Amino acid sequence: MLEIVFANAYDEHMEKHRKNAVVFKDRIDQARIVAQTGRNTGIPERIFLVTGAAQGFGYGIAQAFAAMGAKVALADMNGKGAKDAAAIFSNDFNTDCIGIESNVSSEESVRDMVSEAVDHFGGLDVMVSCAGILKAGNLEDISKEDFERVNGVNYTGFFLCTKYAAAVMKAQRAIDPTRLHDIIEINSKSGLEGSKANFAYAGSKFGGIGLTQSFALELAPFGIKVNAICPGNLLDGPLWSDPERGLFKQYLEAGKVPGAKTTADVRAFYEAKVPLGRGCRVDDVVRAVKYVIEQEYETGQALPVTGGQVMLR
Ligand SMILES: NC(=O)c1ccc[n+]([C@@H]2O[C@H](COP(=O)([O-])OP(=O)(O)OC[C@H]3O[C@@H](n4cnc5c(N)ncnc54)[C@H](O)[C@@H]3O)[C@@H](O)[C@H]2O)c1
Repeated sequence: MLEIVFANAYDEHMEKHRKNAVVFKDRIDQARIVAQTGRNTGIPERIFLVTGAAQGFGYGIAQAFAAMGAKVALADMNGKGAKDAAAIFSNDFNTDCIGIESNVSSEESVRDMVSEAVDHFGGLDVMVSCAGILKAGNLEDISKEDFERVNGVNYTGFFLCTKYAAAVMKAQRAIDPTRLHDIIEINSKSGLEGSKANFAYAGSKFGGIGLTQSFALELAPFGIKVNAICPGNLLDGPLWSDPERGLFKQYLEAGKVPGAKTTADVRAFYEAKVPLGRGCRVDDVVRAVKYVIEQEYETGQALPVTGGQVMLR
């Protein structure tokens, strides 16, 4: 009896979400979703949407999964960068990639981004929310506008990406109850412990872990896992190494590293903080993303990839 009652409640629940998904998907033909994509058991059968994919971690993640045969929508504020990368990956890896110009802090833009990806590929299996920005500074340095801008991308952006991706994933799951889905936030070690003179960023990333855990609880009944990955410093990426605006240069000029005379001194200071002795690399994070997708029995986690610099308690 209990089982029957539960089954009815489940059907009603799924019906409600089926209807909600149809409302959102004014440009998406629901029946087409599963018909086109079929089962999504392996990486090559999956459709990815990666935000912040024009450079850095997002670019590397999009590239790696395209190389494994997945279809990938690369989204970025830098639409040209995303489209150029998509053209290169489609050609290099003989798979289908598209570039989409999008601002993750705008609800309309995120809705259009998800619609465009689903229109093109006929579905969405993995959302990687990677777009992020950082504005370092003390309380005297950071204006309310700076604070809201950082949170608008890192925190609100993750919420919006999850909201629209989950609607599509629920619709897919309602048709095919065996289908598996992942929403992954590229968070940071600064989401696991405070960061001096970097509170706007650290706060946005701590918040991202609260969202990850809460979304995981809400979306588990729909076969959608939600996890965060918390990388250490990508010292070879543009955020750190850009000769004009990179953090090595900024930190040298701001005197943040005592005694540092060159950007090489700043780099050595940050490498020395890592028990495994080097900065994080894109392939370290790709391995973590792949693990999170393939591990069917874990959700709501924040997985550090920090060379031992930050350890879970
Ligand atoms: N670089 C690091 O050391 C490091 C360490 C830990 C975590 N992370 C996280 O990894 C993610 C990627 O960082 P990265 O170093 O590759 O950064 P990056 O600056 O190299 O690339 C970020 C990309 O996001 C895009 N972007 C910025 N704002 C956007 C918006 N509103 N909408 C859409 N796209 C936008 C940019 O155009 C850029 O292409 C971020 O969430 C960051 O917090 C980075």
